[in-house]
Amino acid sequence: MSSEKEIVLSGIRATGNLHLGNYYGALSKFVKMQDDYDCLYFIADLHALTTNPQPEALHENVRNILAEYLAAGVDPDKATIFVQSDVPEVSEMYLLLNMHVGIGELLRTASFKDKARKQLGIKDDSQDIERQIIGNETNKRVNAGLLTYPTLMAVDILIQKAHKVPVGKDQEQHLELTRRFARRFNSFYGVDLFPEPENFNFGDHAVKVPGLDGSGKMGKSEGNCIYLVDDEKVLRKKVMRAVTDEGPKEPNQPISQPVENLLTLMELTTAPEIVQSYRDAYADCSIRYGDLKKQLAEDILKVTTPIRERYHDIRNDDAYIARVVRQGAEKARERAAATLKEVREVMGIRKFY
Ligand code: TRP
Repeated sequence: MSSEKEIVLSGIRATGNLHLGNYYGALSKFVKMQDDYDCLYFIADLHALTTNPQPEALHENVRNILAEYLAAGVDPDKATIFVQSDVPEVSEMYLLLNMHVGIGELLRTASFKDKARKQLGIKDDSQDIERQIIGNETNKRVNAGLLTYPTLMAVDILIQKAHKVPVGKDQEQHLELTRRFARRFNSFYGVDLFPEPENFNFGDHAVKVPGLDGSGKMGKSEGNCIYLVDDEKVLRKKVMRAVTDEGPKEPNQPISQPVENLLTLMELTTAPEIVQSYRDAYADCSIRYGDLKKQLAEDILKVTTPIRERYHDIRNDDAYIARVVRQGAEKARERAAATLKEVREVMGIRKFY
């Protein structure tokens, strides 16, 4: 781990197993980057607390995701793998950074609005969410941790002085906030403590992985996921049941959203000529969705099967998992403690003894 290399940091929230969206948005990039950068990858268990999980489930999820990182090829001898809560410096800096974060900018964050709306049971997105939160007469509440989610994420990044943060498109707004907080902190105290982190993609834009239900992106809460650890039968069944349309009615009509979603998934897993042949078949109305889905399921399985097999071995190896995260925590803490020391000093939190 040489210090001239640029620092890469990314994390995944510990809420359930990882799906193809996590894989293409994040995990596959983690693996590709570990040779060329000084990489830190963690499991965001504190972020998972924002949705109040059952304690046992949270702990199992952390273990599962660790096993998935390792099974997907993240190598603990190359990258630093750790659990967020093993670095208590993060929690302290979260308090400190919050002093420079506006409530308004947090309230306007898209992910906050979505989750707050869900928690309050508001369907209609034209309703004024801030008013609902402040004045809600029901006994539902939106917790303050959810509001300050972006502060915590910014701290994860800034405390390690990361330059590059490989994440999916849904996290870009959080990264934008992180840059803003970094600039604000640096300029308020007249220091040059934090680099402004940027997203990292091997192509030119962030990957968006659609779900199987014909609507938006693949997401744990949407119930439209293919999990890395889905067994063959389950995976095939999910793909065969994916939403399509009634078939093209006339040549060269625009491709409907559900079918476009399947083709987008295919672009991630299948040879480009084959994907093109299905696009052509849509255009000349000869497309057969059964064939497309079979092909898609096979190609996804080529990616997931080796990961799933390794996952089951690693998951049951408590000693190995413990070794990996202890080693990771030590490295991550050392660096976090150094940054926190600077932050405290700069902010005037200095000791008398
Ligand atoms: N918010 C990210 C997600 O939901 C997880 C995350 C937490 C993260 N802290 C981070 C990602 C720091 C990158 C860097 O996927």
